Amino acid sequence: MTTVNGLAPDGFAVHPARGRFNSSFFSVMGGYINWHMRRGKTKAFADLPSSVVEIGSGVGANLRYLPAGAHLIAIEPNPYMHARLRRAARRYGVELEIRSVVGERIDLPDAGAEAVISSLVLCTVSDPAAVLAEIRRILAPGGRFSFAEHVVATPHTPTRWLQRILRGPWSWVFEGCSCERDLTSLIASAGFAGVEINPYRIHTPFVPFNTHIAGTAIA
Ligand SMILES: C[S@@+](CC[C@H](N)C(=O)[O-])C[C@H]1O[C@@H](n2cnc3c(N)ncnc32)[C@H](O)[C@@H]1O
Repeated sequence: MTTVNGLAPDGFAVHPARGRFNSSFFSVMGGYINWHMRRGKTKAFADLPSSVVEIGSGVGANLRYLPAGAHLIAIEPNPYMHARLRRAARRYGVELEIRSVVGERIDLPDAGAEAVISSLVLCTVSDPAAVLAEIRRILAPGGRFSFAEHVVATPHTPTRWLQRILRGPWSWVFEGCSCERDLTSLIASAGFAGVEINPYRIHTPFVPFNTHIAGTAIA
């Protein structure tokens, strides 16, 4: 389902100008961002099964990590992402099902998913703890959540100062994105049975965005 013209998915504010901008931005910059994140993603997204749920798929940055012929359920509330996501799925030979709902309220049954993935999403959702609870709910026992996210920098560092100074305009342009979230602690305390989180730094001119984590959490 795609909703536009004011028919926003429950819990998501659709911004016609910024929604379109972000869709174009991630389409143009996706290759560059993905190249910088390849170290974290290659490990976290290795050996995904043929059926995957993704939170906030955007325009399809992670389709390349799915096995050929995979089935992807994309939880993507921004309707301006959908056309590009569909085109990318066709290119990668992925069978795509878009759910125009928020990660805080996923319309999937309990314990039915083998794998859930996300990248650059827990920074943007309104309530990351609620999204993590939903991921746990939909994962089957032993199922895997694989993530690659950007996080708050170490206190009293130049990156941390820039994150604080730029937080207003950054969040406005990137539709609620925060560079100040301690997602390491949040994921570690979200109630998963086992968690592996690897911090790493990337080197881009978008300095507030350069502190990353990638890893897996087992339900
Ligand atoms: C920064 S983009 C990242 C897109 C893609 N995962 C990538 O790595 O390029 C954030 C994505 O999260 C989506 N998003 C925002 N709020 C969300 C929510 N509450 N639940 C699920 N997805 C959300 C946005 O529409 C957008 O596609």
